[in-house]
Amino acid sequence: MKKHRYFFLFSIFSLLQLNPTISDPNDEACLTQLYASFVDPTQTLKNWTTSNFADPCNGFDSHLQGATCNNGRIFRLSLSSLNLRGTISPSLSKCTNLQTLDLSSNSLSGEIPSELKDLSNLAVLNLSGNRLSGQIPPSLYLCAYLNVIDLHGNQLVGPIPQQLGLLVRLTTLDVSFNKLSGMIPASIGNRSGNMPRFNATSFQGNKDLYGYPLEPYKNKGLSVMAIVGIGLGSGFLSLIVSFTVVCIWLKVSEQKLAAAEEGKISHLMPDY
Ligand SMILES: *[C@@H]1O[C@H](CO)[C@@H](O)[C@H](O)[C@H]1NC(C)=O
Ligand SMILES: *[C@@H]1O[C@H](CO)[C@@H](O)[C@H](O)[C@H]1NC(C)=O
Ligand SMILES: *[C@@H]1O[C@H](CO)[C@@H](O)[C@H](O)[C@H]1NC(C)=O
Ligand SMILES: *[C@@H]1O[C@H](CO)[C@@H](O)[C@H](O)[C@H]1NC(C)=O
Repeated sequence: MKKHRYFFLFSIFSLLQLNPTISDPNDEACLTQLYASFVDPTQTLKNWTTSNFADPCNGFDSHLQGATCNNGRIFRLSLSSLNLRGTISPSLSKCTNLQTLDLSSNSLSGEIPSELKDLSNLAVLNLSGNRLSGQIPPSLYLCAYLNVIDLHGNQLVGPIPQQLGLLVRLTTLDVSFNKLSGMIPASIGNRSGNMPRFNATSFQGNKDLYGYPLEPYKNKGLSVMAIVGIGLGSGFLSLIVSFTVVCIWLKVSEQKLAAAEEGKISHLMPDY
């Protein structure tokens, strides 16, 4: 009787043990849709085939190139420098155990999906060296464990979202060489307390970005030109104005003279 019970428990235990990688439907959907959004002309992604997505964490590690598993879930995707084109699927947010996402040095375009906010375990986000456009999603601040954000060398526009200042674990931030604009929020450019501070290197190469640790006003070099322009312009304008005034004055005095002359004449003429 007791033996049977032990055997029963043992069977359940071994069943659980023997099947440690019941594939997660979310990871499957995540990888399937991510691959569908990529364009991989030279097929650099090895083993990324539909049949492999069903069980991405087969055993301790993944057989999909660049994917690493932990407890049967994808926890790292490192797909750097693979000539990938296409876009980043919003379904990437279904890989909810992801801690590291590195898609750097490819030719990915389109926007950074705001759905990445659902990656609540994300610590490293490296999307540098692509052709990503649109704005930096403000909702990224919801990935509270983020400690690395590297977005340098893309075509991102708009301001740096002030909310990113809420990422207290952030130690590395690089948004250099994009098309970002506006003032750097003080919560990011001038962090308080003992949070690591970011220097100008993190923000350089964005023509219309300004504020500490960059120059306080945008385009200081250009504003000198603007001052010269304004000086020259106003000089020219005052020249025109004084010329006009002189002309009018001359005209008026001429008319006055004529009128006076006429008055003299009419004075001389007898009134009938
Ligand atoms: C592709 O899968 C095979 C077997 O499933 C494996 O031996 C190989 O290492 C995998 N290739 C890569 C690049 O991971
Ligand atoms: C991001 O990836 C690029 C290219 O692979 C690398 O040079 C850079 O150091 C990475 N960024 C961080 C913060 O590790
Ligand atoms: C940075 O913040 C400190 C206070 O936290 C403030 O005294 C200082 O003026 C700020 N610097 C700039 C350039 O805004
Ligand atoms: C900026 O900070 C980085 C580390 O975050 C450091 O390697 C670099 O030398 C610093 N640059 C300047 C100009 O201080």
